[in-house]
Amino acid sequence: MNRIPFIAGNWKMYKTGPEAVDAAKKLASLCSDVKDVEIMIAPTFLSLPLVSACVQGTRVKTGAQNLYFEKEGAFTGEVSADMIKAAGAEYVLIGHSERRQYFGETDETVCKKLRAAFHAGLKPVLCIGETEVERDQEKTFQTLDKQVSDGLKGFVSDELKDLTLAYEPVWAIGTGKTASTTQVDEVHQYLRSLLSRRFSADFSGRTRILYGGSVKPENVKELMNIRDVDGALVGGASLDPDKFIKIIKFYLQEI
Ligand code: 13P
Repeated sequence: MNRIPFIAGNWKMYKTGPEAVDAAKKLASLCSDVKDVEIMIAPTFLSLPLVSACVQGTRVKTGAQNLYFEKEGAFTGEVSADMIKAAGAEYVLIGHSERRQYFGETDETVCKKLRAAFHAGLKPVLCIGETEVERDQEKTFQTLDKQVSDGLKGFVSDELKDLTLAYEPVWAIGTGKTASTTQVDEVHQYLRSLLSRRFSADFSGRTRILYGGSVKPENVKELMNIRDVDGALVGGASLDPDKFIKIIKFYLQEI
């Protein structure tokens, strides 16, 4: 099954509007000769319309880092899927571990957010991953199983054709500790078979599964060589266009 590599940058709470626009413009120009890799950056909500406008017509697509599942209403401080779509975004990250850890995101809210995203025509990237304690207690697969099963509760595969999964072990995020190739391989194979069991082999074969957690130019090629790794969700190393382009052009890197 041919899955186009997908390299996404999560800019988290970094960069003001002008800083985000500068970096996005630079990235877009560096990406002009990239082939067969889908590229996405997720700036803050405030920068999203600015960045979306400045990369329009280039290889770079945009995404939001979160959404609220209600369509509209008295929900102070929140942003709806339709608003994100209207800002020019194609993607949205849902269930990032920082949202789960600091902002009370649960598998139930993740599920509602996924529904809202699909309804608005956004392509969600569902983020999952175990904590260090869960890994130490050998609960990695159990955790991932619950996050996928409960997050995708009630969906049928036809509704999920624009879904991307991102495996981000919490202990590897922003720590410089990348999961080993054996660990990543094992988890991605597990997720591929989970999607197959839960939906179908065809759906599983079509769905991209990204790895995230301290991805950098030095380790991206090795990670991308793992059979069931279809791309990367990059935090820190996506902030600098000169660094991020090396990850996007992973196929040029030496191991
Ligand atoms: P780092 O690449 O900084 O570890 O962050 C990963 C991440 O959380 C991407 O969503």
